[in-house]
Amino acid sequence: MRAARASVIPEHSSKNLSIAGRLRDGILWETSVMTQDITPLAVTIRPATEADLPAINAIYNREILEGVATWDTEPWSETQRLDWLQEHRRPGTLAIVADLPEVPVAGFAYLSYYKTRLGYRFTREDVLYVRPEFHRRGVGRSLLAALLDEARRFDIHVVLARIEATNEASIALHRALGFEIVGEEREAGHKFGMWRSLTVMQITLDDRGRG
Ligand SMILES: CC(C)(COP(=O)(O)OP(=O)(O)OC[C@H]1O[C@@H](n2cnc3c(N)ncnc32)[C@H](O)[C@@H]1OP(=O)(O)O)[C@@H](O)C(=O)NCCC(=O)NCCS
Repeated sequence: MRAARASVIPEHSSKNLSIAGRLRDGILWETSVMTQDITPLAVTIRPATEADLPAINAIYNREILEGVATWDTEPWSETQRLDWLQEHRRPGTLAIVADLPEVPVAGFAYLSYYKTRLGYRFTREDVLYVRPEFHRRGVGRSLLAALLDEARRFDIHVVLARIEATNEASIALHRALGFEIVGEEREAGHKFGMWRSLTVMQITLDDRGRG
């Protein structure tokens, strides 16, 4: 995949940001204060590289420790993340990052095999994470649109998103890009002392199923 420009609107200013990086058990994660700025950002989408792995882990490990978008409970090491990158370099999969003019890796996203049995070969699952201080400024939309473009290029028929049921932001983003809710996995997870449900969303990328 070639690097692509997405949503070129006024450029990002970092003046309102307050970001604190922290180490926990030797693994980088971070906490942050939201910016008040709501200007859409100029986003560049490109394939993830080894150099991006610490930044990707910082985003994901924060969500593990503070959020419920993932039901992982232990922060990932760099070795685990390197395995993930290699897995998402296999044909028909993809790992991408979103850069801002002054901020590399404001978010990341990937397209995985849904199941390995051959009958599922035209289906993928998407996942994406954006650094909290850049939420609601078009980064997630750019990442998901790029994944869907690549899925079409891979001849994929269906993309699924399995989203924690209270995650209104992710459900709204997927709906905005054409996904619809097709199911629910009730109380399939348990995190922070509560049962958690999944909302399953899907987009069908072509009409091969209609005839
Ligand atoms: C879900 C997530 C990726 C959205 O990324 P984002 O960069 O904030 O989203 P965008 O700014 O591109 O939003 C695109 C559209 O999605 C919808 N949307 C995004 N966040 C929303 C929110 N909090 N409430 C309602 N709608 C929202 C809107 O339709 C929005 O378009 P608009 O701003 O023009 O109205 C981001 O909130 C995130 O990383 N959350 C934590 C991790 C996570 O939940 N990942 C998803 C796992 S399935």
